Amino acid sequence: MNIQSQISGDAERSSADAPQNVCLPAAPATGQRIVLGVSGGVAAYKAAELARSLQRAGATVRVVMTEAATHFVGTASFQALTGEPVITDQWDQRIANGMAHIELSRAADLLLIAPATADLMAKLAHGLADDLLTTLCLARDCPLMIAPAMNRQMWEHPATRRNARQLRDDGVELIGPDSGDQACGETGPGRMLEPEAIVEAVCAFFTPKRLAGRRVVITAGPTYEAIDPVRGITNRSSGKMGYAIARACARAGAAVSLISGPVSLPCPPGVQRTSVISALEMHDTVHRHLDALDSVGTPSDCFIAVAAVADWRVSSVSEQKIKKTDDTSVPTLQFIQNPDILASVARRPKAPYCVGFAAESEALEHNGREKLARKGIPLLIANIGHETFGRDDNQILILDGERSIALPRASKDALAQALVEDIARRLPAHAIPTPSPRLQA
Ligand code: CTP
Repeated sequence: MNIQSQISGDAERSSADAPQNVCLPAAPATGQRIVLGVSGGVAAYKAAELARSLQRAGATVRVVMTEAATHFVGTASFQALTGEPVITDQWDQRIANGMAHIELSRAADLLLIAPATADLMAKLAHGLADDLLTTLCLARDCPLMIAPAMNRQMWEHPATRRNARQLRDDGVELIGPDSGDQACGETGPGRMLEPEAIVEAVCAFFTPKRLAGRRVVITAGPTYEAIDPVRGITNRSSGKMGYAIARACARAGAAVSLISGPVSLPCPPGVQRTSVISALEMHDTVHRHLDALDSVGTPSDCFIAVAAVADWRVSSVSEQKIKKTDDTSVPTLQFIQNPDILASVARRPKAPYCVGFAAESEALEHNGREKLARKGIPLLIANIGHETFGRDDNQILILDGERSIALPRASKDALAQALVEDIARRLPAHAIPTPSPRLQA
């Protein structure tokens, strides 16, 4: 059953009441023209996957390689992947006016260098232009993002640190490096970020910062209510929707705290995650976070409750595993209700803007509206629980006090982006903190 049939299954409505159907915004990298610069490090082999992933994210990719990079990976790989000729030489005859360094940067929205070696960073920091890639960097009029990749001692060397600082001062965005095992056999900082983390940084770069300066607290995933040390009650929520919303908020510039039940998802970049198990733990952690933000005078602007919180817990958890006593008897479990985290946040004296989710199995809009009123919140996202739990896509109905907006079935990432844009428009105007009298003096 889809959202539309749920709606038509609700009470009779006039066409004027019908939910408004809206289109989803394009993903952030859609149509962006990226020049991918590849310099000569062993991580160059990962740049092939990166080129592919950038294309999957909707970007068009032109590859420029240094001569050293061609010793690690061939131009043919990039040419086959991107369907575009790979340029390695500033005297390349295929560029009509003979000025590859001007031509390529004029047609780009972003120049991304991955991997960026210590040598390349040193050249960029000093404005050297002795090959096509470095000349392109100097002659560009688009932003430059680099993903450093080198041995840990090279990364930690004062000269490289100095060059990294200089590049940041010059407005270059440095992403990474990561820490971990290195090709040289050592372990430490200097590994290039994985292609998916670089794509995430690129998507964040192209996302308008509609939540800049905002603090958002999000719950996600299921909760687990113990019966005894080895058994418990949970649900089929995977956390994918909550994590997609956390990622979309971070991309939009918010400071994001994610309070997550037990899931197997990596934490989205730039998000601060606290893992919890039970509903009570999630309740206490959410309020502790909100209290902490209140106490330093930076209250949370928005609370988004995406978690599928267990409504009940077992009233007395057995300290030892409950054993079978004979072949027929079954244990009797007593339940008590868990606190409603969302409703309790909405009742706080200085409540943030509260957004709830409703996991329903029928009468989506009717049940959603009842929940919106019962929880005392301004915005609720209704979805069919068993048609979204564990999946990568979803279909949602946005309900406020007046209107219903139906979003079509789409990936959770696409829906999260649309939702976050919508929430950003609804947030009360940002309060600009007034400096304390002492600071003014
Ligand atoms: N929620 C919560 N704490 C709870 C239960 C729910 O914060 N103890 C939040 C969910 O994160 C969601 C919203 O309340 O944002 C609605 O959750 P849902 O499970 O759909 O509804 P319930 O309030 O539990 O009501 P019911 O199970 O009767 O549908």
